[in-house]
Amino acid sequence: SVKLPSWPYSRYIAHRGGGRLAPENTLAAMRVGAEHGFTMFEYDVKLSRDNVLVLMHDDDVDRTSNGRGPAAAKTYAELAQLDFGSWHSAAYAGEPLPTFAAVARYTVANGIASNVEIKPCPGREAETGRAVALAARQLWQGAAEAPLLSSFAEEALQAALEAAPELPRALLVEKVPADWRERLAKYECVALNINQKDATRELIAAVHAAGYRIAAWTVNDPERARLLLDWGIDGIFTDELAAIRPAA
Ligand code: G3P
Ligand code: MG
Repeated sequence: SVKLPSWPYSRYIAHRGGGRLAPENTLAAMRVGAEHGFTMFEYDVKLSRDNVLVLMHDDDVDRTSNGRGPAAAKTYAELAQLDFGSWHSAAYAGEPLPTFAAVARYTVANGIASNVEIKPCPGREAETGRAVALAARQLWQGAAEAPLLSSFAEEALQAALEAAPELPRALLVEKVPADWRERLAKYECVALNINQKDATRELIAAVHAAGYRIAAWTVNDPERARLLLDWGIDGIFTDELAAIRPAA
């Protein structure tokens, strides 16, 4: 049988740090994830206009802050003045945008593993992949588990491979492409991260038979989670931290 790549990660991954329970991609979210017993977080990372790596999902700051406009147009100093918590609930008013460096220090200090999703501002794919990989190499030096770098942006994965080939990579796909084997090989990935709607027992077996790990986002139905885990999936990303979590 095929030897699978090392996978020192939990099968339960808290999506954007705290799922629905806290403002996504903040340190407050990570504390909520940790309180729910999660030992691995997924979060999204991009560059500010002045090249500071920060945690943010969308291209624009509108949904997750009290600001307006594209993140790509704002310096870190401008982003740092915004409130990234009030949109979620009053309890999180004033929650700041975290830097990638701050989150790396927090997760490493608390023995939490990371899936760093490279989420470039449009047009900055390669430079974001390179910046994340070089920063991750420094920030995780001496840590127990290397961060898993992933992206939908293949240019970002290619740049991460060139900058820090030793860091594990996963290819994220909206739909599973027919040539997934070739793409995983091209970026020297350890895993394929799929939409949970595409997960079948057959696909999980085929990915394993090809020598790769497989994880699925976003699994928010506990029965679906149990099924995918029964089928041998290596990871599920969840927003439902209370209902879908590692055994205590
Ligand atoms: O990395 C898994 C998942 O987060 C990908 O989708 O849009 O939630 O970043 P999205
Ligand atoms: Mg993500």
